[in-house]
Amino acid sequence: MDSSDQRRKRKRSLKPTHHFFSLRSLLYFFSFFAFFFILFRRNTPSFHHLVVLPGSSTSSSIHRLFSGELTRFKIDDRVLFPDHILILLSGIGIGSWNLVGNGKGLECIYRNNYTEEEEEKGVAVLSVDEYNDIQWLVRCPLRPTNFSSVVTLRSRGAITVADTTVVAMNSWENLAYEAVLDGNTAVVFVKGISHRQDKASDPNRFRCHFGFGNQNYILASKALTAAQEVVRCALPKSLEIHPEKSQGIRATVSFQLPMRNHHHRTIFVPSVAKLSSSKFEKNTPKHDLCVCTMLWNQADSIREWITYHSWLGVQKWFIYDNNSDDGIESVINKLDLEGFNVSRHVWPWIKTQEAGFSHCAIKAKNECNWVSFMDVDEFYYFPNLPGHGALRTLVSNYTSSPSIGELRTRCHSFGPSGLRSPPKNGVTVGYTCRLQRPERHKSIVRPEVLDTTLMNVVHHFHLREGFSFLDVGQNTAVINHYKYQVWEVFRAKFYRRVATYVADWKDSQNEGSRDRAPGLGTEPIEPADWRLRFCEVWDTGLRDVVLANLDNVLSRGRYLGGIDI
Ligand SMILES: *[C@@H]1O[C@H](CO)[C@@H](O)[C@H](O)[C@H]1NC(C)=O
Ligand SMILES: *[C@@H]1O[C@H](CO)[C@@H](O)[C@H](O)[C@H]1NC(C)=O
Ligand SMILES: *[C@@H]1O[C@H](CO)[C@@H](O)[C@H](O)[C@H]1NC(C)=O
Ligand SMILES: *[C@@H]1O[C@H](CO)[C@@H](O)[C@H](O)[C@H]1NC(C)=O
Ligand SMILES: *[C@@H]1O[C@H](CO)[C@@H](O)[C@H](O)[C@H]1NC(C)=O
Repeated sequence: MDSSDQRRKRKRSLKPTHHFFSLRSLLYFFSFFAFFFILFRRNTPSFHHLVVLPGSSTSSSIHRLFSGELTRFKIDDRVLFPDHILILLSGIGIGSWNLVGNGKGLECIYRNNYTEEEEEKGVAVLSVDEYNDIQWLVRCPLRPTNFSSVVTLRSRGAITVADTTVVAMNSWENLAYEAVLDGNTAVVFVKGISHRQDKASDPNRFRCHFGFGNQNYILASKALTAAQEVVRCALPKSLEIHPEKSQGIRATVSFQLPMRNHHHRTIFVPSVAKLSSSKFEKNTPKHDLCVCTMLWNQADSIREWITYHSWLGVQKWFIYDNNSDDGIESVINKLDLEGFNVSRHVWPWIKTQEAGFSHCAIKAKNECNWVSFMDVDEFYYFPNLPGHGALRTLVSNYTSSPSIGELRTRCHSFGPSGLRSPPKNGVTVGYTCRLQRPERHKSIVRPEVLDTTLMNVVHHFHLREGFSFLDVGQNTAVINHYKYQVWEVFRAKFYRRVATYVADWKDSQNEGSRDRAPGLGTEPIEPADWRLRFCEVWDTGLRDVVLANLDNVLSRGRYLGGIDI
């Protein structure tokens, strides 16, 4: 919408209220215009903080560096994690960064202010990642001894681009880190507000704020729900009328801290969270079935998992990537180009799996009738039905149900099945021996009927009142969970687990957890009989289905020409 459109619209929407000159409406008028004044000014970003250091740096050399498009960047925010510093960057034409190798060659700059003359130290960045349409993520190592904590960025070589604004270093312990529009509400993800597992908090303890920076919140609204560090906020009127203008607006919450003499102090939680909304066209029909998953370094297994489940009827994939470095991005891009509708979302926030699932549920809500929350080593299997489209048919059957909001399926845990090395033809064909009794279950939910708090525990969401779950019988469907794979895979997976509920598989505190391999100590040493463990019944059901129907999927990375998907 151009600004003349905007003005016309604004006129129209204001007309009816002309007759009411209450103080309230005057205030409303004022904040409304103030807000749009700022919004329109914002359309021409100013990069006056950007400094091109002397030397060979001229704007034309920057031009060359960034392959034809003038790219300038600005550090928006910094977050201090226990083992690295996360930098959020925005800039003009920042999308062209991939042309220069995803910013490889960038250095994190630390300054030494302990010595007389200022000394600088450059250390290669840990990673650069595309974050959203407007920002990039750069990870820097913690500051070296005797150096100040970053940090600016500079590209290696002749050209130096630096940002001299020192934005506050945010602590990860206390931070609003994501914000997303959901209908006429905004959902803000906040670390460090009281967190009770599986219990809602009183939303009246919080207030929501919107604006352009941590000292610049110009709009406020009511908190509607608060649970698990997720606060749902009413949208201020001006944003409700023009949701497209909310993109990039910073959001946070405040709360009252009791002081002496019945006084309270208002505490604003620092924020790096900028509102985003899904760009989905309202008129497009929804997919019947989508999948949300969170993963780390599973480039090798994702193709088998996605092609198989697409054959079962999954139409769209939201992959939340926790800092993978195994080239999964290119595997995902390739699958997407092949028509599988796969998108990757960088999720750099540590130990926030529940929040990530809530975030994904909101993203999927506009596009999907049903969403499955599952892991890359889990495969639905229909023992008594032709598999093609079966999962989609199953869920479609309940899409207009007045009471069913979740379908639960039991999981069978498979063992190493005698193998010593990862199966060449994929897990569904390679692993065929499992424990007899099913363990746990996984859910497919209707995002429309989730509880507004978005509360969820280990893959299970609370449903809105009046809705409940249905157990899918084991004769209809089960999930083959390739949980205990050959040692090298198992070890890697449990060493760096994406889930929150097991901090570290070596951590003896969690020894009793059901997620630990029974009988395995806390040492990362292969038990002598590992390959024979967890094997009570041979089960070649899914293997046979895959070999009969998807044989040409099996050689990894090959394009699946023959399958009708
Ligand atoms: C170094 O700089 C930081 C931030 O600018 C400051 O907080 C600190 O006190 C300084 N240290 C010394 C020794 O001057
Ligand atoms: C840090 O500074 C102190 C005091 O100047 C010095 O004694 C120490 O060796 C320095 N450490 C390193 C790692 O440079
Ligand atoms: C991908 O999405 C489009 C519509 O958005 C749909 O027509 C197509 O069938 C989907 N692909 C798969 C494999 O389901
Ligand atoms: C991502 O991986 C790190 C380990 O590097 C882990 O600490 C963190 O909890 C993971 N993120 C999520 C959302 O689980
Ligand atoms: C669909 O649901 C109805 C009842 O709601 C049931 O009778 C029927 O068997 C279901 N079909 C499938 C394929 O699950």
